[in-house]
Amino acid sequence: MPAGRRYNPFRMIITIDGTVGSGKSTAAAGLARRLGATHLDTGAMYRALTLKALETGVPLEDPAALAAMAAATQIDLDGTPGAQRVRLDGKDVTQAVRENRVSVNSHYLARTAEVRKILVAKQREFAARAGNIVTEGRDQGTVVFPNADVKFFLDATPEVRARRRQEELQARSEYKSFREVFEEVTQRDLRDSTRAADPLRQAEDAVRIDTGDMTIDEMVDVLVEEVRRRVKEAT
Ligand code: C5P
Repeated sequence: MPAGRRYNPFRMIITIDGTVGSGKSTAAAGLARRLGATHLDTGAMYRALTLKALETGVPLEDPAALAAMAAATQIDLDGTPGAQRVRLDGKDVTQAVRENRVSVNSHYLARTAEVRKILVAKQREFAARAGNIVTEGRDQGTVVFPNADVKFFLDATPEVRARRRQEELQARSEYKSFREVFEEVTQRDLRDSTRAADPLRQAEDAVRIDTGDMTIDEMVDVLVEEVRRRVKEAT
């Protein structure tokens, strides 16, 4: 919790940023569930727009066309931890946004500053309507909610993250070699951390956690403990 800030038990903002496959979504869902908070998966917003561009033929290399599309798109997330539904212009795309073609093409939308502006505004509106919220992405602690109460930055070695990502794909019957997944993961990290618009970086006041050797339960326990410690300190 930033110094001098008073803790409001009904309006806590907790951010989780990190690399591809670091466990952000699982950690955010688990933490939100334990705290009775809303879960905002901001990656799902970039994914929904990527899916729309792919399906409607909007050129991914044309920032103006992507921004116009983003401005005219309705994205709804319901915020249920662990069972969040994603709606794109009224249609349920929860499964479709997880396809690998969406993952590997999301950098076009993510690097477009005008698109980010639109999505950042949506993320802040979403948080303003929520009570306690756990929000995850790449820029949540740095750009979107710089005054968040607790910030986390999750990471693990590229090998561990590629292995997790490969398992995730397999669970959806998408089979790829480890080498191929490893290349995709490191390429996505590089793009996320080197783009000009809101690149992935750790906020100065974020707690860094290496999730490589942790089970899901251990990871969530560490986050819950840290939040509880901060709340206790501030009250
Ligand atoms: O986290 P997830 O893999 O679902 O995010 C999909 C893509 O959206 C990422 O590869 C990243 O480039 C982008 N993203 C972003 N900023 C966020 C969340 C996701 O640029 N806050």
